[in-house]
Amino acid sequence: MSDAVSYKDLGLVNSKELFRKAVDGGYAIPAYNFNNLEQLQAIVTACAETRSPVIIQVSKGARNYANETMLRFMAMGAVAMAKEMGADLPIVLHLDHGDSFELCKSCIDSGFSSVMIDGSHLPYDENVALTKKVVEYAHAHDVTVEGELGVLAGIEDEVVAEHSTYTQPDEVEDFVKKTGVDSLAISIGTSHGAYKFKLKEGESVPPLRFDILEECEKRIPGFPIVLHGASSVVPEYVDLINMYGGKMDGAVGVPEEQLRKAAASAVCKINIDSDGRLAVTAKVREYLANDPAEFDPRKYLGAARQELIKLIKHKNEAVLGSAGKA
Ligand code: G3H
Ligand code: 13P
Ligand code: ZN
Repeated sequence: MSDAVSYKDLGLVNSKELFRKAVDGGYAIPAYNFNNLEQLQAIVTACAETRSPVIIQVSKGARNYANETMLRFMAMGAVAMAKEMGADLPIVLHLDHGDSFELCKSCIDSGFSSVMIDGSHLPYDENVALTKKVVEYAHAHDVTVEGELGVLAGIEDEVVAEHSTYTQPDEVEDFVKKTGVDSLAISIGTSHGAYKFKLKEGESVPPLRFDILEECEKRIPGFPIVLHGASSVVPEYVDLINMYGGKMDGAVGVPEEQLRKAAASAVCKINIDSDGRLAVTAKVREYLANDPAEFDPRKYLGAARQELIKLIKHKNEAVLGSAGKA
């Protein structure tokens, strides 16, 4: 394709070096999903202020929402904005949950530095074949690839899984060897969205399956592992949303202590989307409820952006351990 754009010309980096340092250093690189300007401004501001490397990631739905060309310029803007803030951050532009070779190729050709091919719902051999095909194209462009083994419960972009299937540790070594992937997402009890666990009265969140994570680590020592569905579904935001007209009964996520424990292991990328959505929704609801006459989006989106900065700084500093690593 003659008008293909390389991420290197946009000032982005792939995930290789970041993951190597994170595995060695016992922390995780944050991967924040974004769809719009305010979310990206908040990610850049918070990561520049905490000196954290960052993966800015886009789902298929987000890419359709934001427009492919607009996204490319937003990513360039993110790099430039961080520099202006005095922080030369390594920034990865990553496709989250790519569902076909064509989508991954299109992202690589339009400036992404990393892609995920999510064949986790396919039979094993088909997952291997699809992932390998993406790796071959990606590596020819120095782009890194994330694969997935095991299915998370919940809603993924146009992929709905009713029940989770934990990753089978016996498969990981073979999968990594056959596909050549650079990192592997595994299923150890997290799920996507704001309703991660169905708890009965008095029950607390069950621990993640760290035994499965340890078994995987043993099979592929030092290999970068990725945790999806890692929002803690911050209770304060759920309460604010419910207080100001929302309805999110039973929303619950992964406790931060468990994420801290995961970040200290071979888990070197932690995906967070829902917490950001909750922060934005809580602050917009609160703002408009308290000032019903306001109709300037800069006011209520500005309040949301401010909260998002606070949230991301907290995640980098107190949960992932990525602060000060850039
Ligand atoms: O894992 C899914 C991400 O949270 C992206 O969600 O497909 O609604 O953009 P989305
Ligand atoms: P959450 O829904 O827990 O934020 O997970 C996001 C995710 O895994 C994106 O790929
Ligand atoms: Zn995910």
